[in-house]
Amino acid sequence: MKVIGFNASPRKNHNTAWSINQILEGATQVGAQTQIFHSGELDIGPCKGCLGCTKGDGCVVADDMREVHAALGLADALVLGSPVYMAQMSGQAKVFTDRLFAQITPRFSPHFKEKNAGKKLVLVFTQGNPNQSKFQAYYDYTKSMFQMLEFDVRDMIIVTGTRSKQASENVGLDEILREVGKKLALDAAN
Ligand SMILES: Cc1cc2nc3c(=O)[nH]c(=O)nc-3n(C[C@H](O)[C@H](O)[C@H](O)COP(=O)(O)O)c2cc1C
Repeated sequence: MKVIGFNASPRKNHNTAWSINQILEGATQVGAQTQIFHSGELDIGPCKGCLGCTKGDGCVVADDMREVHAALGLADALVLGSPVYMAQMSGQAKVFTDRLFAQITPRFSPHFKEKNAGKKLVLVFTQGNPNQSKFQAYYDYTKSMFQMLEFDVRDMIIVTGTRSKQASENVGLDEILREVGKKLALDAAN
């Protein structure tokens, strides 16, 4: 079973990456193969809206999203982590989501592909603000958006207060995240 992570923070070694890595570590502990992609290391441009993916075999844009698409095609589950930027997901996370169009299209589209429907997803948000309910409406919307895209959203993790304290400094959070990863991987295996 394979679980991949996508870190939509441009920072490779900070809160979002750490949180995703704990989840992947938990998945590894129950036998999953894992891989993490860091948006900051990749050249992934926005969707061009060319609809080339509806005619041929996948996205026609030749950038690093090809590698991510390939990995996602083989994965049982995805952990998508984003910092909150201006009360929403980061631009990198939105670009990533738009580029999924080549692989996953909602049923309102005439060229629906079954390929990735039902893929398991854990969403991870990290936010500077200590108040979790501050962005709850946006988180709920985002979860329903991914459900509309036919992901099987298993969990949504919100890590708060990273302005004053690193995610890794939250006592017990590592264990909670590893449990999320274990559960995700075990669910994906069944
Ligand atoms: C451009 C930018 C916009 C941000 N906007 C918000 C925001 O609206 N609300 C919030 O709580 N934190 C905001 N933050 C703080 C980040 O969400 C927070 O520090 C996050 O944990 C960073 O993730 P990282 O350490 O993985 O890069 C913002 C940070 C940046 C750089």
